[in-house]
Amino acid sequence: MIIGVLKETGTENRVAILPAEVVVLKNMGIDVLVENNAGERAFASDLAYRTAGARLVERKEVISEAEMLLSVNPPVEDDINSFKEWQVLCSVLNPVVNSKWIEKARLRGLSVLALDLIPRTTRAQSMDILSSMATVSGYKAVLEAASLLPRFFPMFMSAAGTIKPSRVLILGAGVAGLQAVAIARKLGAIVEVFDVRAAVKEEVKSLGGKFIEVEGAKEDVAAGGYAVEQTEEFKRKQQELIQEHAIASDVVIATAQIPGRKAPVLLLKETVYSMKPGSVIIDLAASSGGNCELTENGKNIIINGVNIIGKSDYPSDMPSDASKMFGCNIINLLKIMVDKNGKLILNMHDEIINGTTVVYGKEYISQRVKQLLNIN
Ligand code: NAI
Repeated sequence: MIIGVLKETGTENRVAILPAEVVVLKNMGIDVLVENNAGERAFASDLAYRTAGARLVERKEVISEAEMLLSVNPPVEDDINSFKEWQVLCSVLNPVVNSKWIEKARLRGLSVLALDLIPRTTRAQSMDILSSMATVSGYKAVLEAASLLPRFFPMFMSAAGTIKPSRVLILGAGVAGLQAVAIARKLGAIVEVFDVRAAVKEEVKSLGGKFIEVEGAKEDVAAGGYAVEQTEEFKRKQQELIQEHAIASDVVIATAQIPGRKAPVLLLKETVYSMKPGSVIIDLAASSGGNCELTENGKNIIINGVNIIGKSDYPSDMPSDASKMFGCNIINLLKIMVDKNGKLILNMHDEIINGTTVVYGKEYISQRVKQLLNIN
């Protein structure tokens, strides 16, 4: 098989495969074409790719020769017209946002794999791109908050007196939230956490955070470990408790998401107005509506002295390690999709391949996408 690595468009700094992973692919019997300058913004030169065994070519050559095309974000819609029906496209798709893109690719006869649909199972853990990128986001969110905050994170006992540690409130203890707990604790802050899934309570405690419980949270095993929409009564109770803790905090890191839906609003406008001037809110849920009522996606705003950072693309700000993790996850996925001669075999009976494939043979495959897009 020939794999083609496309250069990202827009503001994205990551690249799907770095030179070190090209070496691994070559050892798997796969040839690699890389678009010229694809790794430039992730600090990987064309020379490094060439040394690793890739062929560097123009975009149109990558598109016309590669059986599988890899990118972090889906290629622009216009590219679809140049793809052939024997090709497989593989990227983070966000199927709800890109439903038109997917339908166009389906009609063209392409096979499409969404890396954000890889099942969250133990077997698929080494392929879980969402977890890798959430790890970067949780880490960077805390560092950004620490650098914006006009206070120290740790307690300091100095000749000039004692400085109290900062208080960090984390909303949502998924992968990003737990990473944020760990980093904020390492920097010496006091950390409190809200989540609707009772299962994370012990994890929060083991990282040194305090879990704030709100009674009556709804959980659903059918949601596959993800959170579900809560009752109005629960939301009201939770918002009141969050308000109380946010007012006493210096930093809020908001990460709460419900797959396929708008992010829950947990920090109300009046809460922000009651927070201490100089406080920082980092809203990682910004791209799906934000956990804070005042968040503006992609913007840094200051309201009543409170910094509100609406940012969901931290992985692009740390392109070297984010690309490294991304590429390693892809290689682990490819290990179940290629035979010992490097030939691609898409076995739709494999639960990981089936769950990740959006369209194949002009049919919608993934049950989750069918549900999200209301396809029978
Ligand atoms: P996510 O990004 O979908 O959501 C972040 C967190 O926000 C979740 O913990 C969620 O419970 C929480 N949340 C949602 N609504 C909330 C609300 N109203 N109030 C407070 N918190 C709220 O989560 P992520 O990081 O993608 O993890 C989702 C699930 O996948 C988890 O159960 C996690 O344990 C599981 N997982 C499994 C893996 C595996 O087995 N391979 C790997 C990574 C995650």
